[in-house]
Amino acid sequence: MIDPKALAGRFPKDFIFGTATASYQIEGAAREDGRKPSIWDAFSHMPGRVYNRDTGDIACDHYHRVEEDLDLMASLGVETYRFSIAWPRIIPDGRGPVNEAGLDFYDRLIDACKARGIKTNATLYHWDLPLTLAGDGGWTVRSTAYAFQRYVQTVMKRFGDRLDFVSTFNEPWCVVYLSHLYGIHAPGEKSIEASVAALHTVNLAHGLAVEAIRQEAPDVAVGIVCNHQAIIPVTDSEEDKAACERAFQFNNGVFFDPIFKGEYPADFMAAYGDIMPKIEDGDLALISQPLDWWGLNYYKPERYKHNPEAPFPSVADGPALNDVFTDIGWEVDASALKFLVHQLYDRYELPDMYITENGACYNMAPVDGVVDDQPRIEYLSEHLGVVADLIEAGRPIKGYYAWSLMDNFEWAEGYKMRFGLIYINYETQERTVKNSGKWFKALAEEFLNAE
Ligand code: NOJ
Repeated sequence: MIDPKALAGRFPKDFIFGTATASYQIEGAAREDGRKPSIWDAFSHMPGRVYNRDTGDIACDHYHRVEEDLDLMASLGVETYRFSIAWPRIIPDGRGPVNEAGLDFYDRLIDACKARGIKTNATLYHWDLPLTLAGDGGWTVRSTAYAFQRYVQTVMKRFGDRLDFVSTFNEPWCVVYLSHLYGIHAPGEKSIEASVAALHTVNLAHGLAVEAIRQEAPDVAVGIVCNHQAIIPVTDSEEDKAACERAFQFNNGVFFDPIFKGEYPADFMAAYGDIMPKIEDGDLALISQPLDWWGLNYYKPERYKHNPEAPFPSVADGPALNDVFTDIGWEVDASALKFLVHQLYDRYELPDMYITENGACYNMAPVDGVVDDQPRIEYLSEHLGVVADLIEAGRPIKGYYAWSLMDNFEWAEGYKMRFGLIYINYETQERTVKNSGKWFKALAEEFLNAE
């Protein structure tokens, strides 16, 4: 076992350790208390979209087990909880009437965190777009950004006094490309035009949300959570490096350039400006309002090489450079996290950051009540070691959230792929803390004791 004490001693006193989840992945209760379907309810119920035709109908039944789950979380020594709020519980049709029962659920959740001394970090959009809005064009139409702003206003009015952190979007890259270009996530579109349209709507919605949060809850720390790609050239050739620059703009720059520079990347615009929806006066000013923090979700490196068939963007089809892979097939390389954080701070003037997700998929089940997931412990400790290196190098990383508190609905992969510190038996809903959960607890305790 990697010594939690030595690792814990490397983090500054104000660092916070947490765990993360998302509404559709854990809550279940898909038709209860006025919730209406989201695009993920529709998508997961379509044949061929999700492994094994799994759906989030029941998931971890967290909706009914909030207290028990928060007790478990507290028992792991977690200081902060990153969860998401389901728009279809709050405003079930996306626009129109507010559902009090939906607000009540998050009241209970937030109060349960507070009662246990756990800081709250709420994600406003983790992919469960109300289905009614998808019927009107979803993220590809501008009106959705204004519907989002109203939902955010409603949420912040109610919870602004008790939230410590809030992020507008989780992984806009997935909302834009995985959902509209690669067709893997709901709504399953494969269109560059739809993606570019969604890109501007999502950025605008982020800006409108920041405006609403500042108005309703000026004391809450506002950020955005991105899964920027750690884009590593396969060779040092000029061609491969140029492919990486294009890939950076396409995958990362399209979010951070507007937010932190108030413009879209030039080469991206040269390639796609023609199909970009109209950027109205004031849009970029809204999008580039200052943030208090940003979050990085990091799992794996992306290896790029020049591909004459796919000049812009090039695809991450380079060979892996390590022979360690998690059960979902992702290459393990903590050094790419270091590369990415330095690259982002070198390119942009960024505020404080949090690692808002990091973790590994290993699917081992309990044997005699024990889940021996040593590779996950290796993964977490190696990546936390890199986080400590980055802090020592002067990068302002203020906290780390393990993905995930518990096994859950892994989107297109269904329940097969497990990322939790806690094992879920989906037949019985029994929870078993894995060895990695015990290790994380030891780390958190060592850290708190050293304070
Ligand atoms: C990113 C997403 O935010 C989360 O929902 C997902 O389960 C994990 N990464 C693992 O793929």
